[in-house]
Amino acid sequence: MKIAVIGTGYVGLVTGTCFADSGNDVTCVDIDRAKIDRLSAGEIPIYEPGLEEMVRENLAAERLSFTTDLAAAVAAAEVVYLAVGTPQSDDGAADMTALWSVVDGIAPHLRPGAIVVTKSTVPVGTCAKISRRLKEHTGRECDVASNPEFLKEGSAIEDFNKPDRVVVGVRRPEVGDVLHELYKPFLRTEKPFLQMSPESAELTKYVANALLSTKISFINEMANLCERMNADINDVRRGIGHDSRIGFAFLFPGVGYGGSCFPKDVRALVRMAEDHGVEPQMMRAVDSVNEHQKQIVIEKIKNHFAGKLRGKTIAIWGLAFKPRTDDIREAPALVLIDWLLSQGAIVRVHDPEAMDNVRRLYNDKLTYCAKPMKAIDGADALAVMTEWGEYQRPEFKSIFQRMNSPVIFDGRNLYEPWAMERLGFTYHSIGRPAVGCKSI
Ligand SMILES: NC(=O)c1ccc[n+]([C@@H]2O[C@H](COP(=O)([O-])OP(=O)(O)OC[C@H]3O[C@@H](n4cnc5c(N)ncnc54)[C@H](O)[C@@H]3O)[C@@H](O)[C@H]2O)c1
Repeated sequence: MKIAVIGTGYVGLVTGTCFADSGNDVTCVDIDRAKIDRLSAGEIPIYEPGLEEMVRENLAAERLSFTTDLAAAVAAAEVVYLAVGTPQSDDGAADMTALWSVVDGIAPHLRPGAIVVTKSTVPVGTCAKISRRLKEHTGRECDVASNPEFLKEGSAIEDFNKPDRVVVGVRRPEVGDVLHELYKPFLRTEKPFLQMSPESAELTKYVANALLSTKISFINEMANLCERMNADINDVRRGIGHDSRIGFAFLFPGVGYGGSCFPKDVRALVRMAEDHGVEPQMMRAVDSVNEHQKQIVIEKIKNHFAGKLRGKTIAIWGLAFKPRTDDIREAPALVLIDWLLSQGAIVRVHDPEAMDNVRRLYNDKLTYCAKPMKAIDGADALAVMTEWGEYQRPEFKSIFQRMNSPVIFDGRNLYEPWAMERLGFTYHSIGRPAVGCKSI
């Protein structure tokens, strides 16, 4: 199939590359010329395991190409995927500026019979609106389908190639058939291809993210309760996770969820509910628990230093909103950095992949360290904000020697409190007694 994918971010680039890899002829379009130039040369502007090799292979096989020429890409395409960003606008709703600009841009060039598909996460009713807008432009009915994406940054290729399910929202079964054909190579393990209305498909994406965010806010609230009751959230988590009705996924306490999806999608769902006269009590609570959770490490640091941070050196391990990505959108580490700088602290940071993105935001306000151990040299405290593999088993003896004072704020519960105490650290984690409570 000839496919155009508009928007080459985390989702568009993975979608286009995986469709090319399964034998389609894919042209990826972006307005960012520098990005397109790099991609055309086989250089990947984001960090996503496995993506670079796959892009290079498909470029070489001439199944994948990159361009800023929207008109040419669309004119040739049987299926046009829209994968531009839909970030949060000031009032919490999804900002649809990029998407509408693309819809207006593709309209004059769409060939008759072409199918337009939204891959971007868009408010319910967007497919219907796109259909109307395309009809105004072209004078004919155009098929517009919804095909929400459930991939996770850090395992995007794996998720796209082996989805738990594919959801499509269509008005006509024939359109569903075309998309089913496109997805068959990815569904060989009999995972379901679910057809529904565009409205249900659009809402499915928000509901999935809302429920996952709810699990995270739930376990974080329980973790805060544990701290007050001398209970250990890790034990409680194990106690509930083995219940097959509950499970372990998304029940890891920490410093709150971030990233480009959960925060904005929960807020967009709140706005959609309000607009339709439904009071979104749970979603408001999920968002507010998460905002509170992002302050938890700050509170602990403030208490430890009695509010006196001026001139103190704080090391931060982990800047990305989660491991295996360089994405720092709404990352809890940024909230901590802003606060530390506002208090006059000296901040030394390390992240295996996200440092360039953070440097673009903070320039010379931070000290960027190429190695985790370099970041802790002379530090008065270390805050662990992302659970990258390389932070899981550090050399604690060396950490102890390098730090000015051996204090660790572990926002991801990577270490054992009893072991840290034995090594001589002052250790704070999330939802676990601070001292001497080894699990039996
Ligand atoms: N990132 C994820 O993990 C994820 C997962 C599932 C769904 N989504 C959804 O997918 C959509 C895209 O997310 P993303 O993280 O890939 O965004 P992104 O910000 O990484 O990428 C968006 C891309 O669109 C390009 N763009 C903007 N305006 C354009 C225009 N007029 N013409 C052509 N290109 C244009 C930008 O230059 C950028 O490269 C969003 O709606 C998001 O909610 C994201």
